[in-house]
Amino acid sequence: MTDDPLAAEVAARRGALHDVYAQAALEPDTSLCCVDGGAWTLPDLVIPPRMLEMNYGCGSTVHPTDLTGSRPILYVGVGGGLEALQFAYFRRRPGGVIAVDPVAEMRDAAQANLIEAERLNPWFRRDFVQIVDGRAEELPVDAGSVEVVAQNCLFNVFVAGDLAKALSEVVRVLKVGGRFSTSDPITPRPIPQALRDDNTLRARCVSGCVTYDEYLAALHRAGLQQLVVRARRPYRLLTPAEFKALDRELMLESLELLAIKGPRVEAAPDVYTGRCATFVGKGTWYRDDKFPFQSGTPMQVSDRVAAELGARPDFRVSAPTWHARGPGCC
Ligand SMILES: C[S@@+](CC[C@H](N)C(=O)[O-])C[C@H]1O[C@@H](n2cnc3c(N)ncnc32)[C@H](O)[C@@H]1O
Repeated sequence: MTDDPLAAEVAARRGALHDVYAQAALEPDTSLCCVDGGAWTLPDLVIPPRMLEMNYGCGSTVHPTDLTGSRPILYVGVGGGLEALQFAYFRRRPGGVIAVDPVAEMRDAAQANLIEAERLNPWFRRDFVQIVDGRAEELPVDAGSVEVVAQNCLFNVFVAGDLAKALSEVVRVLKVGGRFSTSDPITPRPIPQALRDDNTLRARCVSGCVTYDEYLAALHRAGLQQLVVRARRPYRLLTPAEFKALDRELMLESLELLAIKGPRVEAAPDVYTGRCATFVGKGTWYRDDKFPFQSGTPMQVSDRVAAELGARPDFRVSAPTWHARGPGCC
């Protein structure tokens, strides 16, 4: 017990998170998070059934094209260990994946699932994933020591201050050029405060999420310059019948995004949403004297450059696909 109201609030939020995830570790809860489409399956990867039941993500953060370097991958919020196993599939070496989680029951459940994965997969060894006690807000790894940080359906549970801390930790531990692969629910309009203040709903990934613009702004404020939207789709419908504080239906979305730590941060982020700009003049046109646009060939561009080129008569610009490949030419 404490007399400090702020400390009591933090303790209440952490207590709710602990209770929700300790329970979800002991008894798989299929109503917790998750979107349809199932988990990635890969050649020669057998996922233990209990690990699959403990898929508490809301998208996928595992993208082989992110895994070009040799430093470890840091996975924040291990859950049942599914994505840690999928990352280990690509890394295949002891300590190649470090998975952090403050809930002992969840760490134990993930470890048990990885031991089962070792039994089912001849190529896998349990020490490919090192499970560590720790929090997103204070990551137990050195600055600049990791290649990729991934989190799936955890950061949405944080209040603004904790989200800022968790994101600044991501930026601290990533090397320059390192990648943050993230998946979270977002909301089309602010969620009523009464729901936001409900620590259990927040911990269950229902009421803590922010809007798309707020999510991108938080990433950029933390120091992530290039933001690539990989997927955006319906996640969960909240109704006034279920949640009295709502005046009308609210369809949450799931957002998958890649954020890259650059050498510097500019005033505005470079956001890629899958828009392409096509030069319709003759020959080749160069933006800033260096980025070629060949007539008739669509080039993926950031939203800012799409707006700039869309104002020109010799360009055609397409709408977002919400399925961008990676940073484009500009
Ligand atoms: C919604 S689950 C997602 C699990 C996993 N990422 C997945 O996709 O299945 C959230 C996970 O974060 C863990 N967690 C809760 N609070 C945390 C914190 N402050 N820092 C790191 N992990 C936390 C929970 O124990 C749980 O394993």
